[in-house]
Amino acid sequence: MSGAETLYSHIENVLERLLPDPATPPQTLHSAMRYAVMGGGKRYRPRLVHAVGQLFDLPEALLDYPASAVEMIHAYSLIHDDLPAMDDDDERRGRPSCHRAYNEATAILAGDALQSLAFEVMASIPVDPCQPAAILRATRTLAEASGTQGLAGGQQMDLEAVTRSPDIGELTEMHLRKTGALIRASILIPGLLAPGLEPQPLEQLTRFAERLGLAFQIRDDILDATADAGTLGRTPGGDARHGRATFVTILGLGEARNRLSRSLAQCHEALSIFGPEAQPLRALVDDRAE
Ligand code: IPE
Ligand code: IPE
Ligand code: MG
Ligand code: MG
Ligand code: MG
Repeated sequence: MSGAETLYSHIENVLERLLPDPATPPQTLHSAMRYAVMGGGKRYRPRLVHAVGQLFDLPEALLDYPASAVEMIHAYSLIHDDLPAMDDDDERRGRPSCHRAYNEATAILAGDALQSLAFEVMASIPVDPCQPAAILRATRTLAEASGTQGLAGGQQMDLEAVTRSPDIGELTEMHLRKTGALIRASILIPGLLAPGLEPQPLEQLTRFAERLGLAFQIRDDILDATADAGTLGRTPGGDARHGRATFVTILGLGEARNRLSRSLAQCHEALSIFGPEAQPLRALVDDRAE
């Protein structure tokens, strides 16, 4: 990272560089991809990649690949999540959602192309200092997190939960997949890329990753019920209005808050084997507190 460049602007610059040129055909598709990725995300997943990478002394130039790939998967998932056939949200990050700014078909294709680009970026991770086998494992981890056992599967469970109330076990399973899996992958991928990582830190990292993944969606559910439109980037209360199953609609606000603090406390516990080098990660956990 150069002198005054912060991690946030570094992530922005790298994404900007990796996205296809909007002046090159198909311009509309390239411009829709850029619209969805740039302009306002918190970049939580790439920041996780960098924080874990720092824990294991991985070079920043290497971390730029998985950090961008997880954000591309995330951006694609948001485009599709907002579509009329899914959550039917007209706004995202305080501006028209991708299908509103462009059109539905272009938004679907922008999501498709971002997902492909994420894997192109993973396949471009340089083999020095990473072993090819480590790159394959990391890429497979991202594929699993995006597929039926992860994001896509969790979104399907979410769709089905609208017509029948899931119990708390099913709700937790859905959260772990639709949001937790990508958060988990963002934490595990730099661990998998770290040369010669011992099993114990990897186990602790896995425990941490699962707790944080769950906490992330519980907080998202709480914010939907409590935050103002400025913070949320769209009209609040959408989950309850649409009869969606969330920690708040199923358990109530108080119990959802209890579960969030319990999950965050477990995150800190899982990080206790690490020293001060885990400070950036601890800060990302605290960032999820209400
Ligand atoms: C929101 O994710 C959607 C979920 C998966 C819960 P973020 O809160 O990370 O959204 P941005 O990227 O910062 O807008
Ligand atoms: C999104 O969950 C999960 C994704 C895989 C995108 P939500 O539907 O709760 O996300 P928001 O609240 O629209 O950002
Ligand atoms: Mg949704
Ligand atoms: Mg949504
Ligand atoms: Mg939500």
